[in-house]
Amino acid sequence: MPNLSERAILMPSSPIRRLAPLANAAKERGINIYHLNIGQPDLDSPEVALEAINKFDKKILEYSPSDGFLSLREKLVGYYDQYQIKLKPEDIIVTSGGSEAVLFAFMSCLNPGDEIIVPEPAYANYMAFAISAGAVIRPIRSTIEESFALPPIENFEKLINERTRGILICNPNNPTGYLYTRKEMNDIRDLVKKHNLFLFSDEVYREFIYTGSPYISACHLEGIEENVVLIDSVSKRYSECGIRIGALITKNKALREAVMKFCQARLSPPLLGQVIAEASIEAPRSYAINTYEKYIERRNCLIDELNKLPGVYSPIPMGAFYTVARLPIDDSDRFCEWCLREFQYEGETIMLAPASGFYSEAGYGENEVRIAYVLDKSQLKRAIFLLGKALEQYPGRKEL
Ligand SMILES: Cc1ncc(COP(=O)(O)O)c(C=O)c1O
Repeated sequence: MPNLSERAILMPSSPIRRLAPLANAAKERGINIYHLNIGQPDLDSPEVALEAINKFDKKILEYSPSDGFLSLREKLVGYYDQYQIKLKPEDIIVTSGGSEAVLFAFMSCLNPGDEIIVPEPAYANYMAFAISAGAVIRPIRSTIEESFALPPIENFEKLINERTRGILICNPNNPTGYLYTRKEMNDIRDLVKKHNLFLFSDEVYREFIYTGSPYISACHLEGIEENVVLIDSVSKRYSECGIRIGALITKNKALREAVMKFCQARLSPPLLGQVIAEASIEAPRSYAINTYEKYIERRNCLIDELNKLPGVYSPIPMGAFYTVARLPIDDSDRFCEWCLREFQYEGETIMLAPASGFYSEAGYGENEVRIAYVLDKSQLKRAIFLLGKALEQYPGRKEL
């Protein structure tokens, strides 16, 4: 067989999906698994979204414009306006999920070998998209002791060299649940301005902020309007991961023109997805409130239960629906595998995401796991109870 590309060999497999075969095997053995590993919301999508599918009456399932339907982009302008993000429809390019927005942002802004600085732990697919674009992620470590706050801005400054082209943040953060403060966002703005960098800001979890702290979008930062690339998605806010609709947003016209060339090459974002996303913007306020209340309750339950377990620590996440917890274990990859291969209690086990996959270098996150709280409160309680049982029995338990 001819050789595969170096890029393909370098591509990491998803730390979230990697354990799926072990989970399938456990299910075949009749084990019930609580999925704390993946950010797939369990709540229903808005009624208006489901109605839009039923009402869909096109006779031809055709391509749509490469930047998405104007009617959708116009409605999105109103959606962002609620968050004091002032846009025109032409600032918004509709993509196949936030995932494609990240890829096209990197492809358009970064040359092979160019560097972007990313606070870690970070959403694992950034790494995969950077490799796809030939770009290099320079990680900057945030720590559980500091609740994963932004590391001092001087540490960013130290990493900047002639290949540095941007900074990428995720706010609120997947996997840590951290929400950047105004001071942190201003520090980032100043650095971006000083070194004329791109600021890629992934804000797909803006609906999920639990502390009353203000949400500071990269689009709120003055003086770097041309540098900001906002990544967005309907996947999480409307529980619509499967319709594959996201957006790349920028005021930078030259960048939009570049991104559009990639969009034109892939022809069109999903037709049905756009119709559903457009309808979802009209979802009643009660939908967002119900969702929010559910997640607040889940977050409180999860963190209370976790911190009751001996040797376990989780900071209180401020947003998104994840937390990174520290466990009394030798190796999180081994522990997560063991939970699926060997552990069961009353016919049940848990599936977690080892945090090592959220760091770009080996040796980090060895005693950390990411827990997604996308289960009902009673199921979450049971899952954390099982985690406690697993930690009691795990042969690699290691007191910290
Ligand atoms: C931080 C973050 N950005 C982007 C995405 C991708 O979302 P989409 O389903 O829109 O591709 C995800 C999905 O989990 C995510 O957590």
